[in-house]
Amino acid sequence: MFPDWDASMARQAEALGGLVRARLGAGPQRVLDCSCGIGTQAIGLARAGHRVTGSDLSPAAVARAAAEAAARGVVLPVTAADMRALPFRTAAFDVVVCADNSLPHLLTSDDVRAALVGMRRVLREDGLLVLSVRDYDGIRAAHPASAPPQVSTTAEGRAITFQLWHWHEDGEHYDLEHFQLVPDGDGWAVRVRRSAYWALTRRQLTDAVLDAGFTDVGWREPESSGFFQPVLTARRARR
Ligand SMILES: C[S@@+](CC[C@H](N)C(=O)[O-])C[C@H]1O[C@@H](n2cnc3c(N)ncnc32)[C@H](O)[C@@H]1O
Repeated sequence: MFPDWDASMARQAEALGGLVRARLGAGPQRVLDCSCGIGTQAIGLARAGHRVTGSDLSPAAVARAAAEAAARGVVLPVTAADMRALPFRTAAFDVVVCADNSLPHLLTSDDVRAALVGMRRVLREDGLLVLSVRDYDGIRAAHPASAPPQVSTTAEGRAITFQLWHWHEDGEHYDLEHFQLVPDGDGWAVRVRRSAYWALTRRQLTDAVLDAGFTDVGWREPESSGFFQPVLTARRARR
């Protein structure tokens, strides 16, 4: 999906690493990326010197993350795991990252709460949660029916991706169709992926994070953080 994935990894790690450094000091920190996917944030943060563990619901994604990390000489232990039931010891991490709109895959307040309570459990006291989501306040004001096309380079050549969004009556949930057009001989092949999201506003997410036992909740916008999405940070409340 990325025009230059390594450059994106470095840019995202610099932005998220800066937020971590400002709150916890130079580190290195023990970081769990609990929705690491193929490793965009996890590999970048590990390259920056942090001790990163990656987990994700998708076994294929974590296998790819491990392979991409190894290809770059980066140590990245990975596990396939649902963020609602994290299989890590209590207080094992200084930082939990859940980036690039992963939490909105959870569609009910019970699931969001289960995930956030679990992230809190695996954080040490005063540890840092770093969570990034789409700007759903703006999006919910407009309820767009699509996202604009983007061009990226794949093994097959230049690909075009775009999305169609189908909003539910509640105005908060939507089904997404992700189209990827890839070169195929003289023409194009179309790949379609489908998913569903809960377009949580900053207020909804702030309340859910506080409710799960975090404190010191704050938002950083892309203009000031350098990250491409709004980022929520919060500390695991002391007992
Ligand atoms: C947009 S991707 C972001 C991946 C990665 N952070 C990145 O930026 O490359 C969202 C990720 O959330 C993961 N995900 C969805 N539901 C999950 C769950 N319940 N537990 C853990 N991961 C989940 C998906 O498998 C996917 O890898």
